[in-house]
Amino acid sequence: MSHAQIASIAQHEGQTVTLRGWIHNSTPRGKLLFIQMRDGSGFIQAVMRKQAVDEELFEAFKRAGQESSVELTGLVKADTRSKLGFELSVTDGKVLQSAEGFPITPKEHGPAFLHDNRHLWLRSKRQFAIMKIRHLSVQAIRNYFDERGFTLCDSPVFTPNACEGTTTLFATEYFGQQAYLTQSGQLYQEATAMALGKTYCFGPTFRAEKSATRRHLTEFWMVEPELAFADLDDIMDLAEDFTVYCVQHVLKHGREYLEMLDRDLSKLECIQKPFPRMSYDEACARLAELGVPVDPEDDFGSPHETELTKQFDRPLLVHRFPTAIKAFYMKEDPDNPLRAMGVDLLAPEGYGEVIGGGQREDDLDLLIRKIDEHELPQEAFAWFTDLRRYGSVPHGGFGMGLERFVCWVCGIRHVRETIPFPRTIDRLTP
Ligand code: 4AD
Ligand code: MG
Repeated sequence: MSHAQIASIAQHEGQTVTLRGWIHNSTPRGKLLFIQMRDGSGFIQAVMRKQAVDEELFEAFKRAGQESSVELTGLVKADTRSKLGFELSVTDGKVLQSAEGFPITPKEHGPAFLHDNRHLWLRSKRQFAIMKIRHLSVQAIRNYFDERGFTLCDSPVFTPNACEGTTTLFATEYFGQQAYLTQSGQLYQEATAMALGKTYCFGPTFRAEKSATRRHLTEFWMVEPELAFADLDDIMDLAEDFTVYCVQHVLKHGREYLEMLDRDLSKLECIQKPFPRMSYDEACARLAELGVPVDPEDDFGSPHETELTKQFDRPLLVHRFPTAIKAFYMKEDPDNPLRAMGVDLLAPEGYGEVIGGGQREDDLDLLIRKIDEHELPQEAFAWFTDLRRYGSVPHGGFGMGLERFVCWVCGIRHVRETIPFPRTIDRLTP
């Protein structure tokens, strides 16, 4: 007899094993007790027969409520009716802690209640599947860049620089100095890319998003690659190749979790190269044809994104946005200074922007002018402009929001379910 994990139960067919975990659900039926057990690696049905175990044990398990911690010993049997393909025929066991009144029952609960109980809600099958897919996404992201010669160079979280505008900054006092929580690690990646050629950072970023939408968190994880000697086309190629890799990795290794979420797998299988590409101006023309016009000097709203992406079964790359609505560091289009060399990757099925990035302004004088135009303090960017003083080269990169990606892959409605403990305008607990 040995300890086993549900995830690798197939290796133990025909053997007697002991599992350690929690009662997810249990249903008595006469002299039988059907126990849905979970151990953190998966879920299995265990069947306890009254005559096969000690009488006291049977009663203790019958009394033990949802989420009681338990040990169960039994024979691993093939069971073609269950998703897992196996069940446990119990011969012995132990109730480690008998739980009572677990607040999240199999009945329906509202989202506020579930989020108040996030620390317990994570034990549900749905949240288990989402966290597994988040993990696989992180694995794919790291593999992708590590296998392609990128060096991980973490950007700081405390910074004096506003990267993505001044309206969503979280300010904090830093020993008598004004500091912010980072909105993006990009500016620092521009420095590391000049030192190491191809780098990426992957960490938490913060934005004081004042509106509650299904796509915005105030704390989210972003992966940001940056490359020296790259132009906008290179960045679009990278964003496309990277997205295909990550989606296909999750499909290959996380099929069972996607199935737990009833994800339509055909919507992910078709995520292959090439992705359609159109300039912002082309997108505006298309939107006008579709009957949802957009002011060509303004930004898209989410109805525009939804309408545009509905036309395709794979992500859409929109490039060359109005300079006026984009960040100070974006390079102007040499053919039209009113357009900036930025790109957004818009996911299908209404998920919208998952990646934003582009080519950076590499001209010193233009960059200094842009910092002024955006009313940003030159002092805070002195180190950043140095990068254009000493060996400036064309370069660029992008940022992908992990939660937006996971939300799309899982096919769920709201990004707040894709991070273990979400932070939004109205939530700081648990
Ligand atoms: O488009 P954004 O603002 O781009 C940047 O921050 C660049 N500096 C990145 C770069 O080029 N290195 O943000 C990038 C991505 C978005 O496409 C989205 O996926 C995600 O970050 N994102 C958010 N995700 C969740 N909640 C929010 N409030 C988000 N804001 C941006
Ligand atoms: Mg963006």
